[in-house]
Amino acid sequence: MKIDLLQYVENGGCSAKIPPKQLEEILKYLPLPEDPNILVNIDTHDDAGVYRVNDDLALVFTTDFFPPVCSDPYEFGQIAAANSISDVYAMGGTPVVALNIMMFPASKLPLEAYAQILKGGYDTASEAGVRIIGGHTIDDYPPKYGLAVVGYVHPEKIITNAGAKPGDSLILTKPIGTGVILAGQKLGMVSDNDLNQVKGLMKQLNSSGAEVMKKYNIKGATDVTGFGLAGHALKMAKASNISIILILKNVPLIGNTYMLIDEGCIPGAAFRNLDFAESYSHFATDLDYNLKMAAFDAQTSGGLLMSVPKLSADSVIAELHAAGLSASSIIGEVKDQSDKFLYLDN
Ligand code: CO
Ligand code: CO
Ligand code: CO
Repeated sequence: MKIDLLQYVENGGCSAKIPPKQLEEILKYLPLPEDPNILVNIDTHDDAGVYRVNDDLALVFTTDFFPPVCSDPYEFGQIAAANSISDVYAMGGTPVVALNIMMFPASKLPLEAYAQILKGGYDTASEAGVRIIGGHTIDDYPPKYGLAVVGYVHPEKIITNAGAKPGDSLILTKPIGTGVILAGQKLGMVSDNDLNQVKGLMKQLNSSGAEVMKKYNIKGATDVTGFGLAGHALKMAKASNISIILILKNVPLIGNTYMLIDEGCIPGAAFRNLDFAESYSHFATDLDYNLKMAAFDAQTSGGLLMSVPKLSADSVIAELHAAGLSASSIIGEVKDQSDKFLYLDN
């Protein structure tokens, strides 16, 4: 029997995140635990928490899970796992072990679909060298899947979203537009070509980008997921006490993303992300509306956004291209903190 998971979801992938404004509201009531071994906590809204075990070892700990982004259960498992593991790569860590987190409507979907989701997750985790050693399932609708992942990092080699420095160049390793393409797919507006490209990108681990970051001793990075490129750039600017300029014409887009936005295919998550960022941002008066909405499009399993010293930027791009990340581009720069945290220009 052919199973179509998309029949069961409204918002799939990272576009199902709680809107950033509401999340900030909730988190402010949560006290920050005090412990000198906590190296990264939710204070900087980073990709993962980091806890020092001893002078040579810290644990990177993260979880992500979401409803299906594609029809095929096995592919959904692959994408969800790549997305969950990415947060460890974004922190400069080596992912090691994981637990499955699964919500599955046993009365509505054949158990075979459940098994295929787990198999997809297992295969992608294995590709990353991650051992899945347990998990937890509850009966719930719609289905949701992801991993809680633990990785290792040397306490002095942590990469954070607070590590961007004025003068740095910003590099993005994957093109954006997954939210737009996935929304367009439901409306029958997307070619097989674009759909396959988007699925390939979402399944792709951020491991090779992370290797390049380690080689060049990069200190500032995040991965681009539910808050969109601009939303995650804003979080980086706030955490690093700097301002970020994004040059949107240099941002690589997937397939027909621009055209789809032009035809009105803009998922609600993009507007929620824009709504959150607006008061911290300055938009050029002649800013291209379609590029602006692409920058706020919620990404699922997006690329790494790295803050790279200007002198190394060209070599880093060359290494990323050589590693097969052919869309990697310099998309902006870091400035001293000024009036707004984020500046969007054409
Ligand atoms: Co992240
Ligand atoms: Co995450
Ligand atoms: Co349990």
